Amino acid sequence: MAELNIDGLLDKVLHDRIAPGNDRVRAIVNRITTDLYRTIEQLDVQPDEFWAAADWLTRLGASGQTGLITAGLGFDRLLDIRQDEADRRRGVKTGTPRAIEGPLFIPGAPASDFEVRLDEAQDHGECLVVEGTVRDLQGQPVAGATMDVWHANEHGRYSSFDPDQAPFHLRRRITANARGEYRYRTIVPPGYAIPPNSPTSELFAALGRHGNRPAHIHYLVSAPGLRALTTQVNLPGDPFLDDDFAYATRQELVLTLEDVPSPAGYESLGIDGPFKRARFDVTLPPAGSDRDAAHLGRAERVA
Ligand code: DHB
Ligand code: FE
Repeated sequence: MAELNIDGLLDKVLHDRIAPGNDRVRAIVNRITTDLYRTIEQLDVQPDEFWAAADWLTRLGASGQTGLITAGLGFDRLLDIRQDEADRRRGVKTGTPRAIEGPLFIPGAPASDFEVRLDEAQDHGECLVVEGTVRDLQGQPVAGATMDVWHANEHGRYSSFDPDQAPFHLRRRITANARGEYRYRTIVPPGYAIPPNSPTSELFAALGRHGNRPAHIHYLVSAPGLRALTTQVNLPGDPFLDDDFAYATRQELVLTLEDVPSPAGYESLGIDGPFKRARFDVTLPPAGSDRDAAHLGRAERVA
């Protein structure tokens, strides 16, 4: 048997098989494997470096933080940009811009009609009401549109990933009323940072990068026959707005906060003094398919 050289080894790895397998998986894995062989050769990657990387991947998987790395390396935004480009090529109107889901959505939040309070009395922060109308491309209100909204607490952490918060804290599903309207009361969220002392922080420290995201609130919006929208809104004035670790800021999605002096009309949300208010109206285009219309988070879509 002839001694294997690198090209011979790669050729075997790319082409060995005892069954048809999956053509798509093989094409992608083969491409990545080829690129990694080239990287190892051209950058003269040493065994200790290679095994440190393998160990890091093992720890990353065990930590459940894979989705943090994809965001920080821009893959989440890349997928959005590609979908935006596909929309532009089709030449159709698309309504409210999409933005990354992030890795921290949890399905099954408590449901409310029209309005809800996301925060608990013990949360510290400025009182904020976000309100808006869900419409279709013709400008018609979408009665009964549903939306999941979720954001970080005053320490920049998300419930379910933070043992100090109750399940579904700052996470709710709201069903818009007959006029397509919704509103919620919460606190103005602070920014977010990747967890310290984690496989994620290790990588970004080695890259000389920060792991901060500007303050934001996530939305997943859907209605029958319309295309489900994954997006997020940003709070204005955050120092990381143009320096988001996940590259997700979109100018059209930065809220404008208004100082409202009186709680009149908002008593049902428990407001009894001045508060901040922002509008976020959502426009949904028609769905191409039932799957397009499904209200699904990332993990649910994979399942
Ligand atoms: C990450 C965290 C978020 O809250 C988010 O919206 C996107 C990404 C992250 O840790 O990678
Ligand atoms: Fe987030």
